[in-house]
Amino acid sequence: MRIPNHIVDQVRDTADILSIVQDYVRLKQVGNNYIGLCPFHEEKTPSFNVNPAKGYYKCFGCGKGGNVFNFVMEIERLLFVDAVRWLAERVGITIPTQVGDREDYDKKEIVFHALRFAAKYYAEQLLHPHFGLHAIEYLRGRGLTDQTIERFKLGYAPNAWDGLLKAAARESISPETLVRAGLIKKRDDSQGYYDRLRNRVIFPITSHVGRIIGFGGRVFTPDDKAPKYINSPDTEIYHKSNVLYGLYQAKHEARKEDRVLLVEGYTDVLALYQAGFGAVACCGTALTPSQVKLMGRYVNEIRLLYDADSAGQTANERAIDHVLQNGLDASVVSLPEGEDPDSFVLGHGAETFRDYLQRESKDWMESMVAKAMSNHLLDSPRGKREEIAKVAKRISWVQDDLLRKLYIQKASGLFGIHEGDIAQEVIAQARGRQAKTPQAVAPPPENSSIVEEIPVEQKLLLKVMIDYGGSMIKFIMGYTGIHEFKEGACRELANALVKIYEEYQDQSLKVIQDGHFEVSETAQQLMATLMIEQHHVSPRWSDLKVTVPPLHEDVQRVAEESMLVMKRKSNHKNIRELERQILSAQDGSEKQMKLQQEYAKMREKRIKLQDRGIFYAGE
Ligand code: CTP
Ligand code: MN
Repeated sequence: MRIPNHIVDQVRDTADILSIVQDYVRLKQVGNNYIGLCPFHEEKTPSFNVNPAKGYYKCFGCGKGGNVFNFVMEIERLLFVDAVRWLAERVGITIPTQVGDREDYDKKEIVFHALRFAAKYYAEQLLHPHFGLHAIEYLRGRGLTDQTIERFKLGYAPNAWDGLLKAAARESISPETLVRAGLIKKRDDSQGYYDRLRNRVIFPITSHVGRIIGFGGRVFTPDDKAPKYINSPDTEIYHKSNVLYGLYQAKHEARKEDRVLLVEGYTDVLALYQAGFGAVACCGTALTPSQVKLMGRYVNEIRLLYDADSAGQTANERAIDHVLQNGLDASVVSLPEGEDPDSFVLGHGAETFRDYLQRESKDWMESMVAKAMSNHLLDSPRGKREEIAKVAKRISWVQDDLLRKLYIQKASGLFGIHEGDIAQEVIAQARGRQAKTPQAVAPPPENSSIVEEIPVEQKLLLKVMIDYGGSMIKFIMGYTGIHEFKEGACRELANALVKIYEEYQDQSLKVIQDGHFEVSETAQQLMATLMIEQHHVSPRWSDLKVTVPPLHEDVQRVAEESMLVMKRKSNHKNIRELERQILSAQDGSEKQMKLQQEYAKMREKRIKLQDRGIFYAGE
């Protein structure tokens, strides 16, 4: 079915590209743009840009870009029509449907529809003054407010074999669809179907963008002998290993704190949400790498709140490994014997809980060492050596350079060993991994500092050319040569810009901004960084007698001053080098004479550079 144009426009105008993208990418504001790691290709340096004012995104690494619809189509792998529907649902715009539409829906949409319907049905049953009474009393009795109940769309599955089945039939939702949604089961005698969830309070499970994908149901009457929880099975749209209960609701708090609490139960998530914490839970499975990646879209740290029992401990260790291997930081809080987060918050209040977290939280290393110590594993040199190896291995997984250094420092303190020795062990552990699985090795740390190594004046020159295109490329290249730019990404980019100018002249800016040219990945990263870096810094090269005005004030002067600095630096370097060569050449030799001449030329040039002659009289 066609969606009317005015509805498409309305959806586009209402859907905020920033908040949509933020569900997938952790973004940092830089000037008018937001930047982050591209979700469409593997990268270590952010080249993915979102401009909320203009409503578009663009990755300068892989070239993907477009408006909010393109983003949803690409990331959710949807056709245009479905992307519009998907967004409409999120922003609360109703798309008119006609009879017979259902067949046209993407197959999965039928299942989503059934799940949405079921959640609505369970929620209505919970509020039913007669049938839902005990269930809602139970939830309130556990300290949950009506707001929390509504926010998490909690519900009640009535005590009948076909409550949902019948209600769905009235909405023309077929049993086949309900089976696909994991809501009903075929009877053994295969004469029809029955509801999977009966006489239970219902916890709808949503994806991180808030679509209902499954349910958990808990018994709530003391005499109920049935299993405590029954959960939806994995279905074509519910994959437990990729889902975190409560993430959709916890996002906001988590992002604010840059940390999310990982707990064990649905009820823990609810109690913590209500107390103002962003918490999530795995739905009856161990933490998986893809769940860690999902949390990594929102936060840098995962704080594990597991039971003190030994099953919890082992799960904990494996979880920490997944967290570190996926580039996030891990911390651990162990709760007092016999408490879970829900009972703790209920019993002691949110403030006490917050204090407890602050006091008792240990980073992953402290918690490992503490455990080793209490098991007397550090008593013998050999035992201690083994623990150091374990810790070093985990340090080698830490991707952030500075954080890795801080952990090395910390390990040195905890084990009473020189930092250098720990660092060496970290390298050894990383190498050991390299020998076995080459692809698992983190790239050399130099990678991330490419941009910083480039002198500021060269960054400014490149930035001016990128931002202003043809006219500035012409101006700058009139006074400098490509060879003056630092070898590597910097020179490559300068070279590419000159080529663009040669081919496109006045149209250069458009070609640059569209990214329609080929350069290496490092040059692309440099370019992306320059495009989004604001450079309102006004570097003062006082010893070089140059002051650069803010970029937006006088672009030409920025270019002039930057060129001066670049040239003075290289002149200075040449003079030094010549002095060295002259001294080491044989006195009176022809070679020395030549060097002397060259030296005199450089000295002359230096004077010219000092009084800025180059821009008026050429070189
Ligand atoms: N769980 C499950 N099936 C069970 C038991 C537990 O799927 N039979 C999962 C649920 O996701 C549950 C979590 O494991 O939330 C933790 O279990 P438990 O601590 O027993 O439940 P709580 O959520 O703490 O529930 P309550 O506080 O009501 O006892
Ligand atoms: Mn509990």
